[in-house]
Amino acid sequence: MTPSCHVEVHLRSGAEGCRWACEQKAVAVVVDALRASATITCLLQGGAAEVLVVKEVHEAYAYRAAHPDTLLVGERGGLKVDGFDFGNSPTEIRRADVRGKQVAFTSTTGAQCLVDCLGASAIIVGTTINASAVARQVSAMALAENVPIVVIPAGLATDPSVVAEEDWLGATVLAARLGLPIHQASMQPFQRYQRLIQSVGLVEGFLQSSHGQKLVRLGFTDDIHVCAQVDLIADIVPTLTAVVPLPRGGQGVRLRRGIPEYATSL
Ligand code: MLT
Repeated sequence: MTPSCHVEVHLRSGAEGCRWACEQKAVAVVVDALRASATITCLLQGGAAEVLVVKEVHEAYAYRAAHPDTLLVGERGGLKVDGFDFGNSPTEIRRADVRGKQVAFTSTTGAQCLVDCLGASAIIVGTTINASAVARQVSAMALAENVPIVVIPAGLATDPSVVAEEDWLGATVLAARLGLPIHQASMQPFQRYQRLIQSVGLVEGFLQSSHGQKLVRLGFTDDIHVCAQVDLIADIVPTLTAVVPLPRGGQGVRLRRGIPEYATSL
């Protein structure tokens, strides 16, 4: 299809953003800045063959029972789940050897959003640490398909009334790199979070957010510093490549490193 200048960028948070992505057949970019998007990106950068995202802990256990070589990664309440190999911690994953591994991943919010986006024209994991790489691939995809882009600050699945400032900050960094018009209704939050980034910076913005403060209390301050590094990872764009039926029902989202033909700059 001929590239169109009508492709716009929308920012819509949580479950509402996922629904909208499906209804509009948009390219969905899920931003769980602290920490699911960063952990998934680090897994693929570390050489994991794929990351299968599932909503529920029992789905991850069942998947490993059927595929015993699978590594289990993820959290509940911010902490590593019993029986899992690693928590939802980019710092921990960057130290681990995950080369060639198949990974099943679940987290409180990021994983839920990714599965809830099934029905969108594409599902991508984006955040500060891979912002430019994601922006290149996503804008190329949306222009080729002539569909909108929705950047989804994941929020908090267990309490949708919470405004997750860290996710909005990450979404703003990413949206600014897309080089496409921001839809009018998204301009106000986009500009507000740009001003916050200019005034306090990302590290401080993440540290001040309620989830950032929780992570500090749990001893994960290092993760916040990793997650705040813009373009730490230059070439990983976790991208939906298959919808995987799970052993006891339900579906998982299989993510791989990115789509090379879309990875060149426009
Ligand atoms: C989530 O997906 O809910 C978050 O990534 C939680 C966390 O920081 O562990």
